[in-house]
Amino acid sequence: MLARPATAAARLVAALDTPDLARAEGWAAALAPHVGVLKVGLELFTALGPETVRRIGAHGPVFLDLKLHDIPNTVAGAVRSLLPLRPAMLTLHAAGGAPMIAAAREAAEQAGAERPILLAVTVLTSIDAATLASTGVAASPAEQVVRLARLAMAAGADGLVCSPHEVAPIRAALGQAPLLVVPGVRPAGSALGDQARVATPRDAVAAGADWIVLGRPLTQAADPAAAARAIAAELA
Ligand code: C5P
Repeated sequence: MLARPATAAARLVAALDTPDLARAEGWAAALAPHVGVLKVGLELFTALGPETVRRIGAHGPVFLDLKLHDIPNTVAGAVRSLLPLRPAMLTLHAAGGAPMIAAAREAAEQAGAERPILLAVTVLTSIDAATLASTGVAASPAEQVVRLARLAMAAGADGLVCSPHEVAPIRAALGQAPLLVVPGVRPAGSALGDQARVATPRDAVAAGADWIVLGRPLTQAADPAAAARAIAAELA
């Protein structure tokens, strides 16, 4: 399993958000020396499939962000199918429940010491209180995040994906055990894009984030490698 990052650069996860594999490979080649992990999301994976992970994985550790959510048997099968691609991190929805997470963990164990880190997604940051209530959940989003975080960790997840604002409540509830991967960060002074509730990389790490996910601040920079170095320097 990928170790908790020991350097500022190792904390950076570059989100390679594009359906164009050549472009993603260009970013991976430029960024891999300056970041810890390369994130392949649904857009890239569904465009080109497993080959994407092989090609990006040639440059560095891959976070395969597929947010799996299905019956336990199917999720376990998906995890087994993904193991040959040797992803360093995989996501699944905590809302799939403890049996689903436990089945994913059992399947991942087949890779032994090289198994991927299993990260649970709690409440998507796109879901507000009204949307959550409309799904039948009476709790506030903040309460539901902590409830699902507890459930996921007890069922065998190694960590969680959470917003910068959720890091402190999750650390307060669950201590240092969960590996926390945090998107929605923006270097001071950079464009927000569609991210509304953001924190700087420094604040996210100070609150207890292990890894921070950066997409456009790296990929849309004139010099992505220089942008990554600058953020690592800010963290160091
Ligand atoms: O470009 P940007 O830095 O906003 O990209 C953030 C990455 O993190 C994207 O891949 C996005 O899908 C992902 N993400 C997020 N917010 C979440 C979960 C994942 O921005 N709550």
